[in-house]
Amino acid sequence: MTSLIFATNNKHKVEEIRSALAGRFRIIPLSEAGIDRDIPEPHDTLGENASEKSSVIHALTGADCFSEDSGLEVNALGGAPGVRSARYAGEPSDAGANIRKLLHAMDGIDDRSARFRTIISLILEGKEYTFEGECPGKITLDIDGDGGFGYDPVFIPEGADRTFARMTIDQKNRFSHRRKALDAMLSFLLGKP
Ligand code: IMP
Repeated sequence: MTSLIFATNNKHKVEEIRSALAGRFRIIPLSEAGIDRDIPEPHDTLGENASEKSSVIHALTGADCFSEDSGLEVNALGGAPGVRSARYAGEPSDAGANIRKLLHAMDGIDDRSARFRTIISLILEGKEYTFEGECPGKITLDIDGDGGFGYDPVFIPEGADRTFARMTIDQKNRFSHRRKALDAMLSFLLGKP
């Protein structure tokens, strides 16, 4: 089975991605690859951050690997928190504080439309390929649910009747931005000779 290092230690993301790839690839998170360091996300776009992460891992290991960078873009906030989603309320990253800041920023705003976006950067045999996925939806008025991670308790994807935080991984994967980007990567990998 082909092994791919996944440049993250976020166990929710690893679980989502393993579930989406349904055992077709062996996914190795950084902790299992023996890489114990935070990889910087210094850029202003998701694509540049994703590229940076996969290049760093490739430089360290020489192995096939991929990384993803995701963000929540809220229309009424001009696309914020966007690339700064993880650190919206400051460092260190605190999901509860981020959600509180978001709900506060949207107080009294009727347009709740938003989208999650993911860019994946895959390095295969030394060459980089990128894939994108997005999930449109809306921001709730209050926190609803305690599953998932990040902004899951305040985001209802289009076509659903509940927040990501009230879904199982399989249910979330029917809508998820990361899942769409992964599907694009998977079709590419499966289509390779
Ligand atoms: P990262 O830099 O790709 O880890 O993602 C940035 C931030 O976006 C995360 O820390 C979360 O706050 C948020 N985020 C990304 N994907 C999701 C998701 O599927 N649900 C909720 N929040 C997410």
